[in-house]
Amino acid sequence: MNNFDLKNKTAIITGGAQGFGLDIAKKFLHFGAEVRIWDNDETELSNVIKKEKNENLKYDVVDVTNFDVVKKTIENLKNSKVDILINNAGITGPTAELWNYPIEDWKKIIDVNLNGTYICCKVIAPIMIKNNYGRIVNIASVSGKDGNANASAYSSAKAGVLGLTKSLGKELAEYNIAVNAVTPAGAKTRILDQMSKEHVQRMLSKVPRGRFLELDELSSLVCWLSSDENSFSTAAVFDISGGRSTY
Ligand SMILES: NC(=O)c1ccc[n+]([C@@H]2O[C@H](COP(=O)([O-])OP(=O)(O)OC[C@H]3O[C@@H](n4cnc5c(N)ncnc54)[C@H](O)[C@@H]3O)[C@@H](O)[C@H]2O)c1
Repeated sequence: MNNFDLKNKTAIITGGAQGFGLDIAKKFLHFGAEVRIWDNDETELSNVIKKEKNENLKYDVVDVTNFDVVKKTIENLKNSKVDILINNAGITGPTAELWNYPIEDWKKIIDVNLNGTYICCKVIAPIMIKNNYGRIVNIASVSGKDGNANASAYSSAKAGVLGLTKSLGKELAEYNIAVNAVTPAGAKTRILDQMSKEHVQRMLSKVPRGRFLELDELSSLVCWLSSDENSFSTAAVFDISGGRSTY
């Protein structure tokens, strides 16, 4: 494993109670960062804290779609330094054609994946501007580039995250703040349970590498994007789809 220096860095990782978010949190801790995981699943959050037993790991119960809660949580932090923000909280929702897609599911998927990213950036960007330092990584998806059939809400939300990343990256480029997105292919996390088995198999069949992405592979890329070493790349989309998307 390569080394990254994240000492004296404070990171917030949304959706950090499991899956990609938790793996990123563990790697950040290993490299010396103080990490706060935000999630709306309180049970999973407290399980993680009990299991990890690391004084540099803290949590807040946060629903990223709730602006007031996100704002209050930041205001309650004694130390107002946030060096790294990983917008990772996400849901896929059910598998169905657009014309059969339930309106409530559509709205919820846009709300968590896209509006949640907007809300966290909206609250935390001013802190980064004040400190003239920040690294934001938005966890999008290859479906936001390619569009997956029977996942129009998720694909639209993730495409929106890519647009947000490009706009915000340009808005913050004059500061030492980088905003980038990653577009992972499928990985074995709990999120796969939300989709049909056939849909997951179809996604996998499109990946030239012929396998699922490992959590560790994603968190390595996120570590570099979140480090001082990433001093130039911003407003960019980093592909990690095993060859599925080549643009
Ligand atoms: N696993 C994959 O195949 C895959 C592929 C591409 C992109 N992604 C993206 O990676 C990110 C992480 O997904 P994962 O695979 O680790 O899934 P996961 O289900 O294991 O973890 C997602 C976490 O987000 C939390 N969450 C959901 N809604 C929330 C809300 N409103 N507020 C706060 N937290 C909330 C959940 O409680 C959960 O802990 C998501 O954005 C997902 O879309 C995943």
